[in-house]
Amino acid sequence: MTENSTLVVALTRKLPEGIEKRMAELFDLIAHRHDRAMTRRELQTAVETADVLVPTLSDSIDAELLSHASPRLKLIAQYGAGTDNIDIDAAHRAGITVTNTSNVLNEDTADMTMALILAGQRRLVEGSRQLLSDGAWPGWSPDFMLGKRLSGKKLGILGMGRIGTAVARRARAFGLEIHYHNRSPVSSKTETELAATYWDSLDQMLPKVDILSVNCPYTPATYHLLSRRRLSLMQPEAFLINTARGEIIDEPALIDLLEQGKIGGAGLDVFEAQPTLDPRLVRLAQENRVILLPHMASATREARIDMGEKVIINIRTFMDGHRPPDRILP
Ligand code: DGY
Repeated sequence: MTENSTLVVALTRKLPEGIEKRMAELFDLIAHRHDRAMTRRELQTAVETADVLVPTLSDSIDAELLSHASPRLKLIAQYGAGTDNIDIDAAHRAGITVTNTSNVLNEDTADMTMALILAGQRRLVEGSRQLLSDGAWPGWSPDFMLGKRLSGKKLGILGMGRIGTAVARRARAFGLEIHYHNRSPVSSKTETELAATYWDSLDQMLPKVDILSVNCPYTPATYHLLSRRRLSLMQPEAFLINTARGEIIDEPALIDLLEQGKIGGAGLDVFEAQPTLDPRLVRLAQENRVILLPHMASATREARIDMGEKVIINIRTFMDGHRPPDRILP
């Protein structure tokens, strides 16, 4: 990046119009004309050409791809919070800085986590589906569509970072008791504010909670963190929510346990082989045992614009020779 030269920035996806317009004013922008993920060949051309690559979670930025990067590629500014699609070590070895868009998705993702908790406990999808298919319902009766009361139930949060904390704040307002497992406890101020109980051992927390929300990042250390053995520790009535990444849960094991009635239900926004679903999950959803969403926990117009703004800030800070605010370390 030489002084006074315009930075060549390659986008792998269409971004919100206003964001692309601003980027085009600031940078020499190579926008992806199609609203689909790039092919491998297109990605390779992008890393061969650009100073900055702006990928999304659907692009696999692995060591093999980076071996094609031209020496001018100096920044990968991910449009997204998770960076599990990027080989961070390989990028650093190649002298490429990686940034993400942290902190602008927390509230929206926490909202969707609550939506899944409510939908699961109060049978929202099932009730709506009955009306749509029958055009009527049997009428009010004392035992019709009974769900579970939220107030007083125990919510376990796996990963008490910013999203986990935002979930806990909302859940408190619904009267849920907060339990959490994290690498280390949150500050005593936050713990007091949330009246939260810290479990050093995930194995010990799992049997205690009625609802479990997965809010940790996906890294090699969290791959199948919820293994078959750990999932088996949950109560048979328990409800599992995942708005983080599919790979954190051993999905075939979860499906087996759901089918065997050893876990009560699940609300899943992310999947191991997404965007394709295991057909057994679809069957469970048809039987109203699980609620499935197409990775939309952070999908608000506001979040997508804020993410674009963050990408711009990261690129400009880097271009000015400073450390970008959302730099990811290996
Ligand atoms: C992220 O940015 O990592 C989110 O999962 C996108 O929805």
